[in-house]
Amino acid sequence: MELTERQVEQFQRDGFLIFPALFSAEEVERLREEAERVAGLDAECVFREGSSGVPKTMFRLHAEDGPTASPAYRAAAHAPRILRPAQQTLGTDEVYIHHCKVNMKAAIEGSAWPWHQDFGTWHLDGIEEPSMATFLVMLDEATEMNGCLYFLPGSHRDGRVDPYFDSSTAYSLWASKPETMKAAMNALPEPVAVKGPPGTAALFHCNLLHASGHNLSATDRWHAYFCFNACANRPRDVENPRPDYVRSTDWRPMVEGADAIA
Ligand code: SIN
Ligand code: MN
Repeated sequence: MELTERQVEQFQRDGFLIFPALFSAEEVERLREEAERVAGLDAECVFREGSSGVPKTMFRLHAEDGPTASPAYRAAAHAPRILRPAQQTLGTDEVYIHHCKVNMKAAIEGSAWPWHQDFGTWHLDGIEEPSMATFLVMLDEATEMNGCLYFLPGSHRDGRVDPYFDSSTAYSLWASKPETMKAAMNALPEPVAVKGPPGTAALFHCNLLHASGHNLSATDRWHAYFCFNACANRPRDVENPRPDYVRSTDWRPMVEGADAIA
C-alpha cells in the first residue's frame, strides 16, 4: 500500500493516520489466535498485571526465533500495507523494527498508560533522531470504555519534551510531566479517541503525545504494535541497554514480504 502525498502531509501535520479495515476479520482472527498462544507462555518478555496475573504486554512476536516468535506477526510486520507506509513516513526504504508488542488490556483489570511520547524512552535507548513511527493494529473493537488510545493532534511538532519515570502503573514508563501535558492540551486541538472495529490500524509519530485509560468494560482490548526506526538512526551504545525485546539490535533493513498473513 502506497500512501498518497496528501496522507504523508497529513501525517506530518497531525502526527498520525487512521486506516479503517486494514486487516480482514480472518487476518485479525489469526493474529488473535497467536496472541492467545503467546499469552499462555511463561517467558521473560510476557508481562502480567492485576491480582489474577492477566497478561498485559508481550514482545518479540515478529521475531524469527525465540519463544514468543509468531510467523503471523512476522508476516504482518513485512506486509506492504504496513512496511511501505512506515518507509514513506520515515523517508527511507531502509527501516527495521525497534520492537513489536501486543498490549492485552484485560477486561476490568487492564490498566491505564499515562500521557507520553514513545521517543521519551527511545531516545534514552540511544536513538538520536525522532525518525520513528508505530503501526497500531486493533485486534478487538477499541472503545473509550475499554481503554482505547487518545492522540493529541500536532503534539509531535514540538519535539521531545523531558519525561519523568512513572512507576504508578503495571508497566513503568517515561511519561510526560503534568505541566507539559496541561500546556500542550491548552494549545492544541482536542485529543482524538482512536476507536474502531477489529482490523482498524493507525500509524503514529514517535513524538506524538498519547495515552489510554483503564479498561472499565467486561471485554478485553487487544492491540498489536509494530515500532519502526530508520536503519541509519540505529541506537548508539548506551550504558545498561534495555533488553533486545524492547530495544532490538537487529538493524538489518527489512525486505517487503507478501501481503498475506499466514
Ligand atoms: C503505548 O502507548 O505504548 C500503549 C498504550 C496502550 O496499548 O493502551
Ligand atoms: Mn506509547
